[in-house]
Amino acid sequence: MNVPELLDDVETRLVKKLRLSRLKNKIVGKGYITGLRALVAFLNIPKPTIFMSKGASIRLCETISQFGLNRALIVTDAMLHKIGVLDNILAELDKQGMAYSLFTEVEPDPTFDVVEAGLRQYRRDDCDCVLAIGGGSSIDAAKVVALAATNEVEPAELVGILKGKKPSAPFFAIPTTAGTGSEATIGAVISDKETHKKELVIDTKIVPLVAALDPDLMKGLPAPITAATGLDALTHLVEAYLSGMANAESDYYARSGIQMIFENLPKACKQGSVVKAREKMALASYYGGLTINIAGLGYVHAFAHQLGAKFRIPHGESNAKVLPHVLEFNKGCCEGRMAELARMLGLGQKGDSESRLAQAFIDAVRKLIEQVGIDPKVKQLSPRDFNPIIAAAFKEANSTYAVPKYMSFEDAEKVLLGLAG
Ligand SMILES: NC(=O)c1ccc[n+]([C@@H]2O[C@H](COP(=O)([O-])OP(=O)(O)OC[C@H]3O[C@@H](n4cnc5c(N)ncnc54)[C@H](O)[C@@H]3O)[C@@H](O)[C@H]2O)c1
Ligand SMILES: [Fe+2]
Repeated sequence: MNVPELLDDVETRLVKKLRLSRLKNKIVGKGYITGLRALVAFLNIPKPTIFMSKGASIRLCETISQFGLNRALIVTDAMLHKIGVLDNILAELDKQGMAYSLFTEVEPDPTFDVVEAGLRQYRRDDCDCVLAIGGGSSIDAAKVVALAATNEVEPAELVGILKGKKPSAPFFAIPTTAGTGSEATIGAVISDKETHKKELVIDTKIVPLVAALDPDLMKGLPAPITAATGLDALTHLVEAYLSGMANAESDYYARSGIQMIFENLPKACKQGSVVKAREKMALASYYGGLTINIAGLGYVHAFAHQLGAKFRIPHGESNAKVLPHVLEFNKGCCEGRMAELARMLGLGQKGDSESRLAQAFIDAVRKLIEQVGIDPKVKQLSPRDFNPIIAAAFKEANSTYAVPKYMSFEDAEKVLLGLAG
């Protein structure tokens, strides 16, 4: 352990021993969030032009070809290429006479190595724009390639807030999962190869110019990925609804998105799922991205990121596992907000108290997670893992999210005990 780490460790032990962790989180967290609010007030966060429904990805190709660009770097993963999800899109680009270079090396939770390889190919093939086709992993990798390309920096130098000085290369996105909402967000998540720790590039310049929500591309998405990604979208919407930075606009997206997910996720997980359910899931996911831009996330993501990195659990699945526990923790301070969601979903009985309605909402979330087949436990998790997970989750939450209520170590231990197998 080096000296700063040692000091950190001593401080953490002292704060824990004196049971000051909630107070410390509150002071540090509120300080950061005040700064963040001030920053957000001056940010112009763009929204992409959206094409929706069947054929949306084809319309996006027609549009790209009208931008007067020469060659697109297509950032995607090998599986999507292999199973033919790209076929119609590539055929349409050919038809439109739009040249492209295909980069298929993205893997789930992409690392900086992948982004650097994409950037090398962008330069080698003289590309002048980027088209992401895939889940959050492909879209995030593509965002950072596009920003690094014009800024002439190494991708890792873009980690942090607003590190890009110049606009990104023209960037377009076609999501093939309904979960991350990355087609709308100002964030990109890139993992460190050694530690698997997720680093965040936050920049208003990485929002795509145009995105296509095309349910046809999601028809073959296997049920476990549909379930996990759908629960990621639900987590974005719920965390935003309970966030201290929620406003009328984010509330609108959150309420609509949550309703669409409760109505459509079980249908989308069934074999031969109806395209309408996929379409609604894609829209809910996009709404989730819009809410992240306004209201941010919360403790669910803070814990899920650590658990996902440590135990290699897909992002949406780890969110699904953590979500009910953080809702139980938040219930006391967010009863009214949770009761509103319960009423919207037609839960509970007439005359039920806010507390009962809030519980009905949490129970409905648990039931949805069970219905779509997600194991609520993290079997590998043991109490000796708790301290580093809690420290990292607190650090992430305090510096990034306007959580409605701050946790103590004991609260966090309770969340993790509930998750352990
Ligand atoms: N930028 C953001 O705002 C944001 C928000 C949340 C999460 N994320 C990040 O996004 C990543 C997760 O993205 P994801 O959950 O969309 O998954 P993903 O992109 O990692 O893809 C998961 C798997 O699904 C497969 N797949 C994707 N679309 C398919 C389709 N239509 N048919 C068949 N298989 C398909 C992929 O090949 C891959 O194997 C994580 O790294 C997470 O941290 C980013
Ligand atoms: Fe997420």
